[in-house]
Formats: sequence, C-alpha cells, structure tokens
Amino acid sequence: MVLPGPGQGRSQAPQISGVPQHVAIIMDGNGRWANERGLPRTEGHRQGEIALMDTIAGAVEIGVKHLTVYAFSTENWRRSPQEVRFLMGYSRDVIRCRATELNEWGVRINWWGRRPRLWKSVINELEAAHELTADNTALDFNMAVNYGGRAEITDAVNQVAHEVEAGRLTAGHISEGAFAKRLYAPGAPDVDLLIRTGGEQRISNFLLWQCAYAEFSFNPLPWPEYNREALWDDILAFTGRERRFGGAVDKVQP
Ligand code: IPE
Ligand code: IPE
Ligand code: MG
Repeated sequence: MVLPGPGQGRSQAPQISGVPQHVAIIMDGNGRWANERGLPRTEGHRQGEIALMDTIAGAVEIGVKHLTVYAFSTENWRRSPQEVRFLMGYSRDVIRCRATELNEWGVRINWWGRRPRLWKSVINELEAAHELTADNTALDFNMAVNYGGRAEITDAVNQVAHEVEAGRLTAGHISEGAFAKRLYAPGAPDVDLLIRTGGEQRISNFLLWQCAYAEFSFNPLPWPEYNREALWDDILAFTGRERRFGGAVDKVQP
C-alpha cells in the first residue's frame, strides 16, 4: 500500500518558526492498543507502520531535520520469543518495503544500535537502506533498533579506552565533545523534543546522553493512532516552551 507522502496528507503543515531540529519518539502503546480491541499485540505493531510513515511525512513537511524513533530496545529481548521474532521480522520487512518510498521523499535512513544479538537480516536491510538513501538531505531518519542509552554510552567508553591504550587520547583530558564523537551518530545534534506516545511518563533507556536538555511531550495517544497532525500539535506546544539551558533572566529589575 502506497501511503501519502509529504504534501499529500489531509491537511497542510502549519507555517511556524522555532521548529525543533531534532525530534525523538518513543513509539509506545502498540500492544495495549491491540489488546483493547481484542487483537493480539502484534496487530498493534503492524498498525504502527502506517503511523510511522505518516509521522515521517509530517516531519519532512514541517521542516524537522533529524527524527529518531525507538523501534526495539536492548531490554525488549525480555518479551516472549514469539513477540521478539515478530518484531525482528517486521522491522526487516518494513525497512525493505519502505526504503524506496522514503528515498523518493528525500529521507536518509540511518541505524542506531548494537550489533550483537540483532538479526543479521535486519542489519543487512538497515545498511542497504542507508546506502540507497545516503545522499538525501530532506530529513535524517534514525531507526533505533537494539538500542539502549546505557549500551551506547558503554560502547563509547570502551572506544575511548581503546584509544587511550593506543595513545590517541590522553586519560584525564577527554572532553564532553570528544566523548560525544564516540557515540553512534557523532554528527547528530542533541534532541530538542522527545515525544512518548501511549501515556507512560518515562525515558526507558532512550538517548540518555542526547536528551540532556530535551523538552518532553507525553502524548496519551497510543502509537497506532499517532499521525502527522499529532506531531504538528506536539511541535506547536514545544514552540511555546521557554528553554533556559541552566541560564536565567531576571524579568524584574531591582
Ligand atoms: C511499543 O509498543 C513498541 C515496542 C516496544 C517495540 P509496546 O509493544 O511496548 O506496546 P505497549 O506499551 O505494551 O502497549
Ligand atoms: C520503549 O517501550 C521501547 C520502544 C518503544 C521500542 P517499552 O514498552 O519497551 O518500555 P517500558 O517497558 O514500558 O518502559
Ligand atoms: Mg510499551
């Protein structure tokens, strides 16, 4: 099924200033959405594909430059073997089926995550999709698959330790910037807006380093009901926030 791309939705993106550069989404609530309808959890994941494609189109339309979505966490291996198998196979198939469409939309597909344990066929699809879309510039779409914030930081620590051992870095002189260069995507900016659908209010090990000063939006909509209009609403609310980054302005003069 071909889905409506950027500019082909029911409504037009609002023309606003202050659009966040980097939006991250914890796509949660699939299982509960399905179970409430008497369907198995996997049906919720299936519906999530349509929500994802519409949200990507909406991100391109409104001018977000980086969109990172949580597809499978390093903790999701705790689920039943059937659900894990479904999620692996489904991630692989979604990337395979949608890469051409995303390429036409000008989207570059990137993978953030850990290699061990992740199905080889999923890695192959992610790498092929990246290769196909590597020259696109409309949006960097990052799929976090077998991703954990602590795993990412631990992997970077190990990388730093190797480089110290090899004499390329000096212990005691490693800056935040040098450390950040060892994360999965060194060039990506910090997250401006973190959205979690499904009603839970927690970070569940997502982008722990990159969310240091992110604004949070806990959206009660389950992921299968999310779409580009919901994204625009979350972004509109974000533009009204006052971000201080630890600074302060005295509005009353002594
Ligand atoms: C998010 O939805 C998708 C993944 C974790 C892969 P869930 O599967 O967590 O759905 P709920 O939160 O149980 O409803
Ligand atoms: C976070 O959702 C992971 C993804 C959306 C991929 P979970 O459903 O796994 O998180 P918890 O278990 O509710 O914290
Ligand atoms: Mg969940």
